[in-house]
Amino acid sequence: MLYNIAMKPLHGTALLGGAFDPPHAAHIQMAERALRLGCERVVFVPSANPPHKRCTADFADRVAMLRAAIGDRANMSVDVIEGGDGGVHYSYLTLPRLVAKYGDCVFAIGGDSLIDLGKWKEPDKVIAEVPLLAFPRKDRDEQFAAALEYWRSRGADIYADDFTPDGVSSTAARYLASMRDYSALSPEVAGYVEAHGLYGWFTPLADKLKAAVLPKTYEHIKRTVVCALGLDFECGLGLDPDKVFLAAMLHDCAKKICREPHEVSRVPADSVGSEVEHQFLGAALAETEYGVTDREVLGAIACHCTGKPGMNTLDKLVFCADMLESARDFDGVGELRLLIRRDFERGFRACLMRSYDYLIEKGADIYPLTLRAAEYYRND
Ligand SMILES: [Fe+2]
Ligand SMILES: [Fe+2]
Repeated sequence: MLYNIAMKPLHGTALLGGAFDPPHAAHIQMAERALRLGCERVVFVPSANPPHKRCTADFADRVAMLRAAIGDRANMSVDVIEGGDGGVHYSYLTLPRLVAKYGDCVFAIGGDSLIDLGKWKEPDKVIAEVPLLAFPRKDRDEQFAAALEYWRSRGADIYADDFTPDGVSSTAARYLASMRDYSALSPEVAGYVEAHGLYGWFTPLADKLKAAVLPKTYEHIKRTVVCALGLDFECGLGLDPDKVFLAAMLHDCAKKICREPHEVSRVPADSVGSEVEHQFLGAALAETEYGVTDREVLGAIACHCTGKPGMNTLDKLVFCADMLESARDFDGVGELRLLIRRDFERGFRACLMRSYDYLIEKGADIYPLTLRAAEYYRND
């Protein structure tokens, strides 16, 4: 999609703000892109205490990770203007100070930030201060285009690039790091994260899970985690990310594992030996083996295959993430991914009915709870 009315080369300093918790591939891609578009240098401005985000690595670690990510690139640097004072710093106040320091500036922001610009403090002062360079967000084309039109109508000078950074969000990168997967990070940042033990809260659980399930199941689990965290953010669900992570990470903890005889008693008798047994056993093991006590997390695991009448948002999210994770390639998956980002409820219903129809087509035995869920959401 072409967003720019007239292409004009950029110049001056590209300011790239964010939490950088941790800095990941897309941040460096955006910086390199700003240079290719004509900017002479990129200054990363890590936020001390992002007003709308809960930070999990402290300021000094985030600055050190940024410096590691930049390496010896001469035209990139870090400005610690926001300092580590623990206070809240708003862009509309920081930007004039940066412009005074660097002169001609463009404020580079990710597509999600442009879509959420209305939630910022004094967004009109932000757009009056500097031109913006915004990068579209994969799967959020419509929201991005709408935000672009809206802010341009309010006088914003926005250079909307046609380049889409890839890679996962910082949130997903943190939780993947917890699972000892540093693929979203540069080797230098990964080294820092490992050496300083950052983002390790769930590592013991992840280690245990990895030892228990098949390697291909573990890979599917990681993709489901990324998909669930992404959908939670992109659909504006506002769920607790720890709950989203735990439910997604443990949803298949009982998939194709060797079940102990005594564990059979933990699942409904009519599910024993069936495809859906692992959702019930998974919820039981999440509690007894992995120490999860949160009823919502356990509940989401316990219905991730079948669905059920009256699902809550976390139940629906895990159900859909399991179905829409990036390696799924069934007919219509692309449409479902777009639909759910436009309208979570409609997307969820479409996912549920798609999985039900698939079972019908296959001539499979349909588990009673699946049937009840399909009836409930078809008529609801
Ligand atoms: Fe499953
Ligand atoms: Fe799964």
